Amino acid sequence: MKESKRTKNLKSAVFAELDRIKEEVKAQGISLIDLGIGSPDRPPNPHVQHALQEAIDNLENYGYPSSKGSRELRETIAWWYQQRFNVNLDPETEVLVLMGSQDGLGHLPLGILDPGDTALIPDPGYPVYKAGAVLAGAEIFSMPLRKENNFLPDLSAIPEDVAAKAKMMILNYPNNPVAAVAGREFFRKVVEFASRWDILVCHDLAYSELAFEGYRPPSFMEIPGAKDVGVEFHSVSKTYNIAGCRLGFMVGNREAVEVLARIKSNIDYGVFLPVQQAGIAALRGPQDIIRQNVAAYEARRDILINGLAEIGWVMDKPKATMFIWAELPKGYPSSEKFVEEVLRKTGVVMVPGVAFGREGEGYVRIALVQDEKTISEAVRRIRDKFNFV
Ligand SMILES: Cc1ncc(COP(=O)(O)O)c(C=O)c1O
Repeated sequence: MKESKRTKNLKSAVFAELDRIKEEVKAQGISLIDLGIGSPDRPPNPHVQHALQEAIDNLENYGYPSSKGSRELRETIAWWYQQRFNVNLDPETEVLVLMGSQDGLGHLPLGILDPGDTALIPDPGYPVYKAGAVLAGAEIFSMPLRKENNFLPDLSAIPEDVAAKAKMMILNYPNNPVAAVAGREFFRKVVEFASRWDILVCHDLAYSELAFEGYRPPSFMEIPGAKDVGVEFHSVSKTYNIAGCRLGFMVGNREAVEVLARIKSNIDYGVFLPVQQAGIAALRGPQDIIRQNVAAYEARRDILINGLAEIGWVMDKPKATMFIWAELPKGYPSSEKFVEEVLRKTGVVMVPGVAFGREGEGYVRIALVQDEKTISEAVRRIRDKFNFV
């Protein structure tokens, strides 16, 4: 078999290497505390689980669903947007149900980018952004996210010839991996930039509901003109602890919704109806699970940050997401080497920043996906073996 050049470009050497070292460490009898992959450890709300169970018992739910998503779920999404962001959406033309937001982020580029076209992608960034553009055969122009710029891309640093060629820009706030947030002022600049250069903005809002100390992340769709230039992706995976159900959605620009719906109608039949029913129950039902999630991630964040500050590893406190983006302690130039050393000495797994792009060097990403007791244990193990003062 001769593999395509495109898929050869998809492999992430850093993640593969991390998996290899994890196996070695386990084989030595060291128990792992995995703060690597951002998969929620907390259970779904019982009423969501019951909605799923009930829908599974209904024999009418076993046919092919519509690839656009059920009308009832699309109406629910439009209702949710209205009450959460005060944004009006037409459930018929401006809402599309996805098999997790990953589905849309990976496939929309096929409808926007031809081989040789340019996509503006944040670096560091969640890996599917680059993968989607690579699968479409597009050129990637990386927008560095740097601390001195509050981890926002500097739009004025994008050369005019690149902006003129670019057809798509991806943004993600609250951000994975850098855990930064963006305000409406920045989004207004993005709308202006995208209108000027005729670029489709794809804003990934997977972490809109995981924010601390009362902060409420805005939607890109709130900005006047946003629907003319952009779409927004959402995930119920993290908000409602149902990552394995594979449910997300895209809203906004109707041409982009139509293109992605057309792609999906050619390659899938949509989400299993009981999962869509669970999504409706999650969005319409009691929202106390969000407060509980936020309180849990916040408590874990504080245990980790305060505990490691005592040995001289000082980190910025994120306002949102389930991640900490930590600068490497002094004297450690390589994120991969540092993560390997911590893993071999303590069993604590983190992801080297460089796994998310070249600009991620100098950082590690810590996912707060273990309970307080286990996070305390991770802190204790690191404190036993390291001192960065
Ligand atoms: C920023 C971001 N976008 C999208 C996703 C994918 O979410 P979903 O489960 O909806 O595919 C994730 C998952 O980790 C994420 O961190």
